[in-house]
Amino acid sequence: MTSTPELQQYYASWESRIGYRFLLGGTRHFGYYAKSSSRPWPVGSALVKMEGQLFEALQCPRGSRVLDAGCGVGHVAMYMAKRGQYKVDCIDVVPRHVDWAKKNVRDAKMEDVIRVEKGDYHRLEGYKDGSFDGIYTMETLVHSTDPTNALKGFYRILKPGGRIALHEYHFHSMNTAPTDVKESAEKIIRHAAMPALARFTMADVLRRHLQKVGFQDVCIRDISSHIMPMLRLFYYLARIPYLIFKRRGMEHHFINTFVAVKCWQGREFWSYVQVTGRKATESDFDQGRTSSALVMVTGRDKDSAEESKHRVVKRRR
Ligand SMILES: C[S@@+](CC[C@H](N)C(=O)[O-])C[C@H]1O[C@@H](n2cnc3c(N)ncnc32)[C@H](O)[C@@H]1O
Repeated sequence: MTSTPELQQYYASWESRIGYRFLLGGTRHFGYYAKSSSRPWPVGSALVKMEGQLFEALQCPRGSRVLDAGCGVGHVAMYMAKRGQYKVDCIDVVPRHVDWAKKNVRDAKMEDVIRVEKGDYHRLEGYKDGSFDGIYTMETLVHSTDPTNALKGFYRILKPGGRIALHEYHFHSMNTAPTDVKESAEKIIRHAAMPALARFTMADVLRRHLQKVGFQDVCIRDISSHIMPMLRLFYYLARIPYLIFKRRGMEHHFINTFVAVKCWQGREFWSYVQVTGRKATESDFDQGRTSSALVMVTGRDKDSAEESKHRVVKRRR
């Protein structure tokens, strides 16, 4: 239930390495655009705006200690540390990303506020209970082999009242999707090492995972319409190479090219969501709101969805 060979292989491929470096400067997340925007430029400021969205969702006070789970090359952590004056612990499971993040942090002279280590977010035993004020993920939980276990770990190492913010993708129900979309989804899950996507088939699934683990005030916001200019850009860049690779039966060797084309064509069937919540506090216990939190403590597996306030903002196009 940790890093898999498929995951390492996916990030080791030349297609991944060159694509991310030249298109996004090593950052590995979508940009955020105004809903009315159709142009993807400038890409750099859209990436920063997405980091701003995650920062605002996290709502941690200045000076908080936060965990960046799946930090990539560390750009998100650097933004968070600067904007919130946070102390950031970064972990990533791919050694090349860890080295690159360390270098970026060193070059920015931010080693006193950002610590980068190789680590797997399924294996958080090294952190004491209640170590963090906040935890965030930027487009990484789709790679999880056991999302419930990862979220349990996050819950344990958060302080009471500590905040979580996740920017992730999920598929809508696959039952109603055309065969082509289902087959593409299966290829992406397999070749881009995204096993959790097979389970995140509804907006509700991530919310239920969080509630089961004990998070309170779970909120899901669909922000898919804000990533469309970048999704369209990737599609235009990838469509000719995709046709060539397809004709030669080599699609799965160029999985990012495949993803770019299929995710644009099948955009009605998946969403980009921002998920937030907080760890229960003493006062939640007093108000009897935390039987979901007790699941963690007692090990009972009881879903208490009705005890967490939630809101699903439907996707609007
Ligand atoms: C799409 S990239 C996002 C990177 C970074 N958050 C960003 O926004 O630029 C996903 C990252 O999660 C990392 N990752 C995947 N599974 C992980 C795990 N189990 N533990 C820690 N990091 C993981 C990958 O190595 C990769 O760097």
